[in-house]
Amino acid sequence: MPKGPAVVSSDRKTSSREGLAEEERSARLELRSISKSFGAVKALHEVDFEIYPGEVVGLVGDNGAGKSTLTKIVAGITQADSGETYIDGRKVNIRSPSDASKLGIETVYQDLALCDNLDVVANLFLGRTQKRRFGPIRFLNEEDMERQAHDVLASLDVRTLRDVRAPVASLSGGQRQSIAVARAVMWNSRVVLLDEPTAALGVAQTAQVLALIKRLREAGLSVMLISHNLVDVFEVADRVIVLRLGRRSATFDVKGTSVEDVVGAITGAEFGVAS
Ligand SMILES: Nc1ncnc2c1ncn2[C@@H]1O[C@H](COP(=O)(O)OP(=O)(O)OP(=O)(O)O)[C@@H](O)[C@H]1O
Ligand SMILES: [Mg+2]
Repeated sequence: MPKGPAVVSSDRKTSSREGLAEEERSARLELRSISKSFGAVKALHEVDFEIYPGEVVGLVGDNGAGKSTLTKIVAGITQADSGETYIDGRKVNIRSPSDASKLGIETVYQDLALCDNLDVVANLFLGRTQKRRFGPIRFLNEEDMERQAHDVLASLDVRTLRDVRAPVASLSGGQRQSIAVARAVMWNSRVVLLDEPTAALGVAQTAQVLALIKRLREAGLSVMLISHNLVDVFEVADRVIVLRLGRRSATFDVKGTSVEDVVGAITGAEFGVAS
């Protein structure tokens, strides 16, 4: 067991969103004092991060601030040099993407998420047909998979998709992103990391993905959204955590915060952000 306190510091608790505020409630995911260097580049310096069940946290910061590095550490793609990770108050070691997946952490990248030449059903079940982690059925036939694909898309209210047998290459960017998110959430995931999910999307498609993020929150998942688009972040996030030059420089509740406040923290213009 870790020696340190099992709960987050009180200032962070009071800044968490309504309904969670005063409870002695474990964060779904908590990172403590994560540091990571690439040679001489200190990408992350003693970064803390916490996200609660049913919460969307926007992780923002300028290019090179360390956002993707932090995501990759949580996703098991990269290992931190030092620091600790807790899931529901329990210390964990995430050494590979499969460790992350076993802990219910799924990551969605804009481009790497799907296999173009396969249909929607195949993408949803890719690499997973014999490895379901819930329910009694180990081997699924095509009809079962197709039915479940329909069910998960319906449960996420993905309506624009006409045919789950369509190859993913024929889908729009927003539809592809929806499939990637559906794939991430249909395996009992508890934390979903989205690194720039709307960067390449048009207005309507972005709205579709943001609506999906809200539904994940309603389902009690924790969603970490990395985006340079603060309008998107403000639309869906409960809190915003700012990284600047590899350090966590500010935390905001979205309610009562302006985009200008966050821009100030990102650029360091208005805040004493050094520590
Ligand atoms: N594999 C790597 N090798 C060397 N340096 C790296 C590596 N990955 C990241 N870095 C460096 O670490 C720092 C943080 O990079 P990171 O990709 O996490 O930033 P970011 O906040 O995601 O930026 P962006 O908004 O541009 O995506 C940068 O200085 C980057 O050059
Ligand atoms: Mg990045």
